[in-house]
Amino acid sequence: MFLKDVAKTVIDLFPEEMAAGFLAAKHRLWWRTKGSKLHLAYAQDYKTRSAIVSAVKEVLHRVGRDRARIIEFGCSGGNNLRLMREILPWPVSYLGLDFQPDAIAYARQQYPEDVFHVCDDLGLPDLVPRLGHFDVFIASAVLYYIPLDRAQTVLRCAACLADYVLVCDDLSRFHLASGRNDGLFLHPYAALCRKAGLEIVVSPERPEDPGNRHGYFVARSAGRFNEDGVCGD
Ligand SMILES: C[S@@+](CC[C@H](N)C(=O)[O-])C[C@H]1O[C@@H](n2cnc3c(N)ncnc32)[C@H](O)[C@@H]1O
Repeated sequence: MFLKDVAKTVIDLFPEEMAAGFLAAKHRLWWRTKGSKLHLAYAQDYKTRSAIVSAVKEVLHRVGRDRARIIEFGCSGGNNLRLMREILPWPVSYLGLDFQPDAIAYARQQYPEDVFHVCDDLGLPDLVPRLGHFDVFIASAVLYYIPLDRAQTVLRCAACLADYVLVCDDLSRFHLASGRNDGLFLHPYAALCRKAGLEIVVSPERPEDPGNRHGYFVARSAGRFNEDGVCGD
């Protein structure tokens, strides 16, 4: 904890953009080293994400869908796919993206019928035209590892790729334009969604436990496609 605080203080000495670069690199290194086997733990405790899957179910039910075409960014080893297949009453087709090769190799082994790509936030825009269209884009516990401008890009891609976007994250700065990051990137999602052409349709609930800043929201895409079916900026 002491070392973490020292790292945060040192990072804060640098200009904001440079500090964000350090923090992003630190997260990336962590996932590539210490976090590289976490998909195995997520596969064990996959049921703990039931609130996310219930939210997906509710949205698709409300709009009368009889299928679930899901894309998940930061999918790890496909733990949320497993729960969706158990809980959703419809056939689930799924495409998962994660920057960890081990997690994606595991997911491919577990779910050979589904599609997985090794991809990070920087590579996502180039991949978008090849991915197809989905009912829901899920970003669960991933955007807080990514700096503001790059999280904005992910949400813009999400708006192109799916009718609905579900984000589960630290939402303590959901409405705030400014404030200090906290070792994680705490994003002002209301503003990011507006800029990405996403309308919030399920607002985050205030957590009962103020120490737990996680929550989720659902946004609807304005469907910004040109006449060739290509997504605009
Ligand atoms: C906390 S886990 C969440 C896994 C899963 N979404 C869930 O809800 O259980 C975060 C995942 O995001 C991935 N991740 C982190 N930064 C990423 C980035 N910049 N691009 C793509 N994936 C990233 C990690 O590899 C990890 O699998």
